[in-house]
Amino acid sequence: MKTVSQSPTDPAFVQDPYPFYEKARAQAGLNYWQDYGMPAAFRRAAVHAILRDRRFGREMPPEMAKPTPTHLAPFLAVEAHSMLEAEPPRHTRLRKLVMRAFTSREVQAQETGITALCHSLIDAFPNDPFDLLTAYCTQVPVITICRLLGVPVEMAPQLLSWSHDMVAMYQAARTKDTEHAAARAAQEFTNFLSDYVQQRRTTPAEDLITRLIAAEEEGDKLSNDELIGTCILLLNAGHEASVHALGNGVKTLLQHGWDPAWLAAEGIENLVEEILRYDPPLHMFTRYAYEEIDVMGHRFQRGDQVALLLASANRDPAAEDEAEVFDPTRPARTNMSFGGGLHFCVGAPLARLEMQIALPILFARCPNLGLAAAPRYSNSYHFHGLTRLMVTR
Ligand code: HEM
Repeated sequence: MKTVSQSPTDPAFVQDPYPFYEKARAQAGLNYWQDYGMPAAFRRAAVHAILRDRRFGREMPPEMAKPTPTHLAPFLAVEAHSMLEAEPPRHTRLRKLVMRAFTSREVQAQETGITALCHSLIDAFPNDPFDLLTAYCTQVPVITICRLLGVPVEMAPQLLSWSHDMVAMYQAARTKDTEHAAARAAQEFTNFLSDYVQQRRTTPAEDLITRLIAAEEEGDKLSNDELIGTCILLLNAGHEASVHALGNGVKTLLQHGWDPAWLAAEGIENLVEEILRYDPPLHMFTRYAYEEIDVMGHRFQRGDQVALLLASANRDPAAEDEAEVFDPTRPARTNMSFGGGLHFCVGAPLARLEMQIALPILFARCPNLGLAAAPRYSNSYHFHGLTRLMVTR
């Protein structure tokens, strides 16, 4: 296994990680990524195979669990009830109950609301130049997930702040301050949702929280802690990635130029898939090995971790012609941006719907949209999103 080294906080890498991925992909099998201290899969076939291999999973083997540091207790309590951090049978149970409430019918029902929201946000655009990330790309997913769950839209700024503080825990640039802020946010978020869920128990409404309370599978329901953990997961996951998928997409279109045909009804699905393939907002996830196994020439011991580079897999020339080229007319293949296997993104249909609505409306209403400053990615690997997107219209 060849060793590669690349600091995930190196400014040049943060701005453009793709040349490093290309070099790493030249090597068949797995690479040892020195800075993370673990093997890493950069090729599509390897990422795809390990995501689906049940001998690997996200949940830490129980014998490896360390005592909970007290300052992180509220954050870890939320994670302990998240389906994203669980494996079967716990994951199967949680995911089934959530899927009962989070149906494709409910997602599709958001279409009219998202369309009206996009128009009202554009009506309220500030004077040039302005940050499209805050004025549009953030608002569409955060307001949509609030509406879907049934959380007051006025709470959106507070939810964003809690979510940013919690999600920072997964970034390479994590510090002690990050941990304290995440724990504080998790505690406040939990307190807010405990009251809110209680309110919904006594006054049911037409929303996802009410459906989650009622979701039942063979007499089984979500416990109160699971309900709160699930709401936090959906609220956080429901916008953190979508904001930057939209932001990265607009940036790419403004830098490469766009063809109106891509934004028309016949082209939009392909355009969204190509944006997600070309510059996704989440680049890397890890898995634990659950037994001693040989995979792609490497022997894993139980508890060893492996990094899966979704963004590199999307640009693998073995899987895609001219993979480094942004081409929304290419035949859409399943990209790896939503993961795969058991943990495949629950929100993929919602994220796609938001982008398929928000992009055509934006470019139809602002045909002269242009960059007012060179966009920069934030130092938040494995996330890959812009700090701001300054535009003129
Ligand atoms: C473009 C936007 C999005 C991207 C790129 C994205 C990406 C992902 C990825 C890669 C995973 C799997 C992680 C792994 O395998 O380790 C995942 C899981 C998940 N996502 Fe998303 N996501 C997006 C939007 C959303 C939205 C809008 C929601 C909710 C409304 C959502 C909810 C979830 C949940 C609940 C999981 C955990 C599923 C499980 O563990 O079974 N995501 N997402």
